[in-house]
Amino acid sequence: LKVLSVVSEIYPLVKTGGLADVAGALPAALAPHGVDMRTVLPGYPAVMAVLESAEPVYYFDHLFGGPGRLLAARAAGLDLFVIDAPHLYDRPGGPYVAPDGEDWDDNAQRFAALGAVASGIGLGLVPAFVPDVVQAHDWQAGLAPAYLHYSGSRRPGTVATVHNIAFQGKFPAMLAPAFGFPPEAMSIHGIEYYGTLGYLKAALKLSDRITTVSPTYADEILQPDGGMGLEGLLNDRSHVVHGILNGLDDAAWNPADDGLIAAPFDLKRIKARDTNKAALQAAFGLDPNPDTLVFGVVSRLSWQKGLDLLADSLGTLLDLGAQLALLGSGDPDLALRFAGAAATHPGRIGVRLTYDEPIAHLIQAGADALIVPSRFEPCGLTQLSALRYGALPVVARVGGLADTVIDVNEVARTAGVGNGVQFSPVTAPALQLALKRTHRLWQDQKLWKKLQRNAMTTDVSWDRAARDYAALFRDLVAERGA
Ligand code: ADP
Ligand code: GLC
Repeated sequence: LKVLSVVSEIYPLVKTGGLADVAGALPAALAPHGVDMRTVLPGYPAVMAVLESAEPVYYFDHLFGGPGRLLAARAAGLDLFVIDAPHLYDRPGGPYVAPDGEDWDDNAQRFAALGAVASGIGLGLVPAFVPDVVQAHDWQAGLAPAYLHYSGSRRPGTVATVHNIAFQGKFPAMLAPAFGFPPEAMSIHGIEYYGTLGYLKAALKLSDRITTVSPTYADEILQPDGGMGLEGLLNDRSHVVHGILNGLDDAAWNPADDGLIAAPFDLKRIKARDTNKAALQAAFGLDPNPDTLVFGVVSRLSWQKGLDLLADSLGTLLDLGAQLALLGSGDPDLALRFAGAAATHPGRIGVRLTYDEPIAHLIQAGADALIVPSRFEPCGLTQLSALRYGALPVVARVGGLADTVIDVNEVARTAGVGNGVQFSPVTAPALQLALKRTHRLWQDQKLWKKLQRNAMTTDVSWDRAARDYAALFRDLVAERGA
């Protein structure tokens, strides 16, 4: 079964968040299930620089404002189709934003090109790889199913995968004709969305299947708050909506074989974790006390992640005698608040306000608990690495956080299955209670070790999800063939 994955970022080539991790891990996870997945993505400079082999398989005279080539390429063990179109992608900055932090003003064209090229591959542009299914990730890939829908040709099955419904890709409606869509596409039954050209809306409306990255988020997006405007459409199509929980890339995140931490460890060598805790305290300028409860954070700083609630709760954390090691990048106001707290409480609060993968690994390996106070969280990957690395997740009971963390309540404790702490509602007072509860658990070190063991033995692998995706793809192909 051949599947084309359409995505705007992929680990380890280009990453702004968990989307890249998932896109990077899925092909290898699916291979044992008989799925040959290749990925089409834009040729940003960071991608072009690391291609190990690249062969032109198609030339475009006009690709949204200039010429381009499609390369069949390999890099970091991934089979790729790279869109080499310098006028769209060859520039300094991020995949979505310019160096000044503003969205690229031609994002409509940049990601319409991604959708159009993906659709072309879907229709047989590259005879050596004609996919049975095209999977479009998030709004950036959203026009791929739309182009396929309006192609009028025999097309592969299409799957829209929602990693975050907050980002919907809305652009001026007047672009649609120039982008090659027929007049009838610009309606509520097509790509039109509240007077705009809606990339995510188009994908959700016109794909054969819709998946999202956890069962709870699949329920949440059917509700008014969670759907962020798309809940009506999703309710109409709820029979094709599936929540498939993400896994963790266990090659990238393996505490027993992790070159980015101070000392590798596993359950049998759990003592080595102390070395990582000491290294973490040193790296963040925290007092070098092994008995102090150290909370960690690895996050984008944004409204979604709820870290303002943690900023409001630092008094509680300090009163408990705990420490905080925070790694985060994003919102400048929030960064300033944490920088201020670190300056006021040296030795107790340490921050790194950047994006830093080695430090992310050190936090997972050295912190006692990881705080994830998200207002919404489609899946969340940091709580999965925390589980694997034995940092107890302290999480808001939303989305994928609710699906992966078992709160240590009385029943869970009796059954011996708790692996973290959940709180709800997502407010500062509820977070403060969770911090206090975590500290009470910490005071019972025998219990804590048991919880840590539960965390480290939680199945966070891709196996189950890969099986579910493979079954969904097969079901879709069978339905379309019938
Ligand atoms: P999201 O994609 O919404 O940001 P996820 O939890 O799904 O959230 O994925 C975040 C990914 O980005 C994880 O792999 C995490 O380790 C990584 N990450 C987030 N912030 C940072 C940071 N400041 N430095 C390094 N890695 C980070
Ligand atoms: C998005 C979501 C996050 C999810 C990731 C990968 O970035 O915010 O919750 O884990 O996609 O699916």
